[in-house]
Amino acid sequence: MQRRDFLRHGSHAALAATTLGSLPALAKPGRDKLRLGLIGTGMRGQVLLRELLRREDVELAALCDIEPIMLGRALAMVNKAGRSKPETFGEDGDLQAYRRLLDARKLDAVIIATPWEWHAEMAIAAMQAKVAVGCEVVAGVTLQDHWDVLRAQQSTGTPYMLLENVCFRRDVMAVLQMVRAGLFGELVHLQGGYQHDLRAVKFNNGDPSKPYGSGAEFGAKGWSEARWRTEHARRRNGELYPSHGIGPLAMYANIHRGNRFTHINSFASKSRGLKDYLGRKLGAKDHPNAKLDWALGDIVTTTLACENGETILLQHDTSLPRPYSLGFRVQGTDGLWMDLNHGIHIEGRSPAHQWEDFQAYQDRFDHPLWKKYAAQAEGAGHGGMDFFVIHAFIEAVKANAAMPIDIYDAVAWSAITPLSEQSIVEGFKTLPFPDFTGGQWKTRKPIFAFDDRY
Ligand SMILES: NC(=O)c1ccc[n+]([C@@H]2O[C@H](COP(=O)([O-])OP(=O)(O)OC[C@H]3O[C@@H](n4cnc5c(N)ncnc54)[C@H](O)[C@@H]3O)[C@@H](O)[C@H]2O)c1
Repeated sequence: MQRRDFLRHGSHAALAATTLGSLPALAKPGRDKLRLGLIGTGMRGQVLLRELLRREDVELAALCDIEPIMLGRALAMVNKAGRSKPETFGEDGDLQAYRRLLDARKLDAVIIATPWEWHAEMAIAAMQAKVAVGCEVVAGVTLQDHWDVLRAQQSTGTPYMLLENVCFRRDVMAVLQMVRAGLFGELVHLQGGYQHDLRAVKFNNGDPSKPYGSGAEFGAKGWSEARWRTEHARRRNGELYPSHGIGPLAMYANIHRGNRFTHINSFASKSRGLKDYLGRKLGAKDHPNAKLDWALGDIVTTTLACENGETILLQHDTSLPRPYSLGFRVQGTDGLWMDLNHGIHIEGRSPAHQWEDFQAYQDRFDHPLWKKYAAQAEGAGHGGMDFFVIHAFIEAVKANAAMPIDIYDAVAWSAITPLSEQSIVEGFKTLPFPDFTGGQWKTRKPIFAFDDRY
């Protein structure tokens, strides 16, 4: 399909989204400034806060966190940026303080950057309060959470965007341009995942100044993600963090825009990495945590089948030594791209059976958003993509436009986790993938990154 056809379809997307109830219900069209709240001012919340404080179109009206040190760090950032002091909630440790933030502050939008187990509850409360939601990955924990978040969005009409930043990575967006230009031919197979050695994130000594690898504690004695993320690895075996991998791949495959996931299964390897890390690598073999068993398999491999015949492979790999890589591969009838070797092969263009370096393609297919905003994204988190994800959310709310990563994307990408857990529990069974769109995937049109405002 040619670019102009896509643009034409993109212009229909807002209409399609209206019928799906995903347009903002409250933001006034054309408003140029938003009153915003941030729930969760931890490590991620502070990265997002830095982006928010760089924007003149955001008034940071309220902050909420139950950890006074994190709240204090966020307040210091606001102060340093010369902005007026936001109202704060949660310093009393009240887990429900975010409800007071939602009630009291007449916010246009809220960013949720709390532990996973809070996302569904907080997003639902915000949508019910008619406050637009930008939610950090993931959308929920159980499958029921995902249906609840979806139903809340549909019944309230409040905008909801999953803040999946990897969709905005520069090479990922260039590849989107290439997919749209038909460079790979018809897509056949896609791969990605979350392959990130998190051992030093999952354990520390609880000292707020040493969040990474400083000890063997987790849970109440840990700090930041060690306080909550590690417990998921204790109890759950599945693809625990799917959206960084599946987000870009779903956009390439036009999931919910003429395509959908139909089936899923997962295999989990044995679990050795975390025990080995604590006992042997960290030298904490006498620590009680070194004796614990972990539910999470070290490598969890998930396969998805799509309505249009593509297969997608995801790998979750966070407990073994390895350099970071999301391991993308996009393959069609005319060639493939892989990020790990920075390589591309396009039949008829590339030397036969040889990789070309991706850089020339990156330059040629650089996305208009990156061309336009590269200077502003300079220095933003994760190589600039955190600028784009915040920018997309803020601009879409301001313009009363469809969310570029919307509720259907959010719940389907994130529901991979409970479905993969179920598959593993049931003996690596292949399960049907729920159609969260209720059949509307057939007629919805591409929208992601079609409008260069977002
Ligand atoms: N997109 C990305 O690249 C990226 C990167 C890192 C983290 N994340 C996501 O961001 C989220 C937060 O991760 P993090 O690294 O900041 O963790 P963190 O532990 O550093 O921060 C979470 C904060 O939430 C607070 N909190 C917990 N319960 C609360 C409640 N009931 N009310 C108010 N505040 C509460 C905690 O006190 C903590 O300060 C997670 O969903 C994580 O997966 C995304």
